[in-house]
Amino acid sequence: MQIDLIRNFSIIAHIDHGKSTLADRLLELTGAVSARDMRAQLLDSMDIERERGITIKLNNARLSYQALDGKVYELNLIDTPGHVDFSYEVSRSLAACEGALLVVDASQGIEAQTLANVGLARELGLQIIPVINKIDLPAADVNMAQEELLDVLGIDPDECILASAKEGLGIQDILEAIVRRIPCPQNNNKPLQALIFDSYFDEYRGVVAQIRIKEGRMRKGMKMQTMQTGQEHEVLELGVKTPALKPVDELSTGEVGYVIANIKAIEDATVGDTITDASAPAAEPLPGYKPAKSMVFCGLFPVDGEQFEALREALGKMKLNDAALQYEPETSTALGFGFRCGFLGLLHMEIVQERLEREYDLNLLATTPAVEVEVVKTNREIELIDSPAKLPPVSSIEAIREPLVKAVIITPNTYTGAIMELCQKRRGIFRDMEYLDKTRVRLNYELPLIEIVTDFFNKLKSVSQGYASFDYEFIEFRESDMIKLDILLNGEPVDALAVIIHRSTAESRGRKLCEKLKELIPRHMFEIPIQAAIGGKVIARETIRANRKDVTAKCYGGDVTRKRKLLEKQKEGKKRLKSVGSVDIPQEAFLAMLKIE
Ligand code: GTP
Repeated sequence: MQIDLIRNFSIIAHIDHGKSTLADRLLELTGAVSARDMRAQLLDSMDIERERGITIKLNNARLSYQALDGKVYELNLIDTPGHVDFSYEVSRSLAACEGALLVVDASQGIEAQTLANVGLARELGLQIIPVINKIDLPAADVNMAQEELLDVLGIDPDECILASAKEGLGIQDILEAIVRRIPCPQNNNKPLQALIFDSYFDEYRGVVAQIRIKEGRMRKGMKMQTMQTGQEHEVLELGVKTPALKPVDELSTGEVGYVIANIKAIEDATVGDTITDASAPAAEPLPGYKPAKSMVFCGLFPVDGEQFEALREALGKMKLNDAALQYEPETSTALGFGFRCGFLGLLHMEIVQERLEREYDLNLLATTPAVEVEVVKTNREIELIDSPAKLPPVSSIEAIREPLVKAVIITPNTYTGAIMELCQKRRGIFRDMEYLDKTRVRLNYELPLIEIVTDFFNKLKSVSQGYASFDYEFIEFRESDMIKLDILLNGEPVDALAVIIHRSTAESRGRKLCEKLKELIPRHMFEIPIQAAIGGKVIARETIRANRKDVTAKCYGGDVTRKRKLLEKQKEGKKRLKSVGSVDIPQEAFLAMLKIE
C-alpha cells in the first residue's frame, strides 16, 4: 500500500458515549462487514464485554474507503478500552496511530475519561477529530458540548462533527475527516520497529500479536526479535484484520496487522514491546514501554478445598491471555489454600473473578481488596507488601508508605458539597476546582488508593445520583500512618479479615466493622464475640448471641412444599460459607469492609 493512502486512528471516549457503536457504523459503511453479518458491536467480542457493554480488550480492523477525492484509502481502526484500569492499553493503542476520533455524548458533555484520553492523545501528538455523538437524543445539547470542548480543551467548535452513531448520521463526514485531517504515517527508512499494541493467546497458534509497523518492513519467514525479552522467533504468519484474520506476505511502514511466530507465552510479546529484525536490529526500542503493574490485590480461595488444583489451572489458563494478572499461592489459617492475586484495578479484579466462576465453574471466596504498601524496615530495607498477613512485626517497621493517586471528578455543581465531604472522609487532599460551564465543575483531589479501592466509586455514584464521573492515575508512594487492624472471632484472629488502614480511621472503622460482621455472620448454637484489635489491644467488640435461626419457623408447620423451598434456599445461601474454627462465615463477611461508611 502507498504510504500516503494509509490512515491509522483510534476512537477515544468516556464510557458509554458511543465508541463501539460508532466503530460498528464505520465498519458497516466501508463494507468491512455486511449488514447481515453485523452482530451488534462486533469489536466488543468477549462475552462479558457484551454483557456489561464495555470494551475490555481492544481490537482492530482494516477498512477500505473510497473517499470523495476518488482515491481508495486504507484506514486502520484501533479500538481502545474505555475504562481507567486499562489506560496503559489505551496509551499503547494511541501510540500506534496518527489521529484519534474524540467521541463526546451530546447529552452529557465532557466527562473524566474524556479529559484523561485527550491528555494521552495530545502527549503523543495525535491529530484529534472531535465528534459530538447522540445528536438524535431529545436531551442532546450540541452548543453546551461545543462550549465545553472549547473552554476546557481549546477545541474549535467548527472542527466538531455532529453525529448519531445509532442512526448512522454524520458517518461519512467522519470518514472524510479521517482522510483529510489525519496525517499519513512517516517513512524514515530505518530498520524494522513494530509496536505491539495488543496480544492474545490462541490455543492452537500461540500468541497473536497486534502490531503497527513504525519503521521498516516485516516479511513472512523472517527472523524477528522482541526487544524487551531479546527472544528470537521465525515469523510464521503475517496478516491484517478485516476484522477476520487475513494473511499477507508483507507489512510495510505505517501498516497495522498481526503476527504469529510460535510464541508460547504472552509475557514474551507484551503490550508496548517492540519487534525488530533479528538480522538487522534497530538501535533502540520504541519509547514508552511499561510492564503491567498490579495495583489491587485480593485473596481468592475455593469454597471447596478440593477445587484448589482446578483454581490453579484456571488461573494459569487466564494468565496465558492476560499478562497483567498476577498470582501466587497463599495459605490462610482461616480459608485454607488459595491464591493472592494482583490486578490492574477493581474492574479487572471483578472480571477475572467472574470469568473464573463462569468459565471454569469454580465457587470462590474473595477477600477484601487491598493495595500494595512500601514498608521501610528499621534496617532500611524496603519491602513491598500486598497482603496484611505479610506485614512484618511492628518492631521492625520504621515507616509505611501507601500509594496515592491524582483523582479528577466531574460533576453537576449541585453535588459538589456531598462529593467534597466524601473525599474528606476518604482522607482526600483537595487540590483545586474549576467550572467547566455554568452548571458543571471539575474537582481535583489527591486520594490514597486504598480509599478508592474500598467502594469509593459506588459511594460517589450514590452521592451524585450517578452524575459524577471519575478518573485517577497513580502518583507515588507516600509515608502514612498505616496500621494493621485485626479481627478476632471467638477470641481467635481471622487472618483473612485483617486489613491495613490509616490510624485515624482505624477506631471508627473497627467499630463499624464489628457491627457489620454481627449482621452478616449467622447465629450459631453458641455465643460468638467479635473483636477488632490493633497490636493486640482490643478497640471494639460486638457479640452474636446464641440461637440457631430456624427459617421454617414462620411457616407454622403448614405447607410442606413451601417449607422445602425455604430449606433449599437456605442451602443455596450456605454454599459460600467457610467454617473458621467452629464459626461459619459467609462470603459477604469477607467483604464487610466495603459495606461500611
Ligand atoms: P465502552 O465500550 O464501555 O467504552 O462504551 P462505548 O463508548 O463503546 O459505548 P457504546 O457504543 O457501547 O454505547 C453506549 C450506549 O449508547 C449504547 O446503549 C448505545 O446504543 C448508545 N448509543 C451509542 N451511540 C448513540 C447515538 O448516536 N444515539 C443514541 N441515542 N444512543 C447511542
